[in-house]
Amino acid sequence: MSMNIAILPGDGIGPEIVREALKVLDVLNQEYGLNAGWEEAAIGGAAYDIAGNPYPEATQSLAHAADAVLLGAVGGPKWEPLDKPLRPEAGLLGIRADLGLFANYRPTKVHRQLLDASTLKPEVIDGVDIMVVRELVSGVYFGQPRGIIEKDGARIGINTMAYSETEIERIARKAFAAARLRSGRVCSVDKANVLDVSELWREIVCRVHTNEFADVELSHMYVDNAAMQLIRNPKQFDVIVTSNLFGDILSDEASMLTGSIGMLPSASIGENHAMYEPIHGSAPDIAGQNKANPLATILSVSMMLKYTLGHPELAAKVDAAVDAVLDDGMRTSDLAGGRHTVSCSQMGDAVCTKLKEIDNE
Ligand code: NAD
Ligand code: IPM
Ligand code: MN
Repeated sequence: MSMNIAILPGDGIGPEIVREALKVLDVLNQEYGLNAGWEEAAIGGAAYDIAGNPYPEATQSLAHAADAVLLGAVGGPKWEPLDKPLRPEAGLLGIRADLGLFANYRPTKVHRQLLDASTLKPEVIDGVDIMVVRELVSGVYFGQPRGIIEKDGARIGINTMAYSETEIERIARKAFAAARLRSGRVCSVDKANVLDVSELWREIVCRVHTNEFADVELSHMYVDNAAMQLIRNPKQFDVIVTSNLFGDILSDEASMLTGSIGMLPSASIGENHAMYEPIHGSAPDIAGQNKANPLATILSVSMMLKYTLGHPELAAKVDAAVDAVLDDGMRTSDLAGGRHTVSCSQMGDAVCTKLKEIDNE
């Protein structure tokens, strides 16, 4: 069956890392009978420059028609002065909401070969395998009222952190279901000692657990403690389920267990659509220099193969190819301590070479 992927490179390093991911898809098409086609469209600042809108209609219809979306990254200093709805980030939040991508899976798996690339001690991170399940289309990112208002001659900035029972239920179900396929433990992270929204979050997570997933082990942790425990003893975690903002922050933190944010892929899944995106941003400081680590994007393709395209065996090959290049000591400059520092395109090429060799083993 032919599969149709919408490719949204975005801004900054987005086009560089997506180019490498497409090389990998090419190899899968040519050597392994994957029948994937793709079409590219603009999102973020690139889309604003072309269409005056960070999530233009052409991109919307392409994304709706696609079996899966692959996104690079959006944003950059050039677009910061724009009004908020026109900024690149509004395009990203726009596509997530438009496609109903409420569950964002951010796996943090430490590659043995990169133990020395992390700032943490090897014995603390060796064996870490965490899945952060982040709610992606609600919470303080989308809550109303919001804005900057004027009261008694002074301005007040307002955002609202709100979750409905239904929104909590559906993300909790996804987290428990994910845990059943792993080591069967969920830690729900909230701020229930202070926030009303978290009080409801905790109550509903408990209810879903009792009624539908009593076989899974559930614990709760306040977000400040969770941020500390992730560094103190990350191996205590299996699945972490949390809200949009807390998940954003904790997943960037968790990425440093692996050595670099350039290693972390993600899958954003809804009822009818799926988008795959590295967790990092457009890295304006290294954009255009062929220096970015493309592995987070390549591993996002692996997640796409597994979750949407129905090819877990090809996902395993991509993962093995990534492992093999790391075994060879290849490191982009974000990963310290490698035998060979390689560029973004050299890393992509090396993964493709390994991927072809796996076939011949
Ligand atoms: P960032 O993730 O872009 O960069 C943080 C640091 O990590 C930088 O030093 C960068 O060079 C490095 N880095 C990130 N990805 C890397 C990679 N693949 N290889 C090597 N190094 C990498 O975060 P930021 O600097 O806070 O944000 C920059 C822009 O990206 C902003 O406009 C922000 O809004 C946007 N952003 C977009 C996304 C997204 O599109 N999903 C995510 C986060 C930030
Ligand atoms: C991410 C990013 C986005 C978010 C921004 C760019 C809107 O940080 O994907 O983690 O906060 O969700
Ligand atoms: Mn983020």
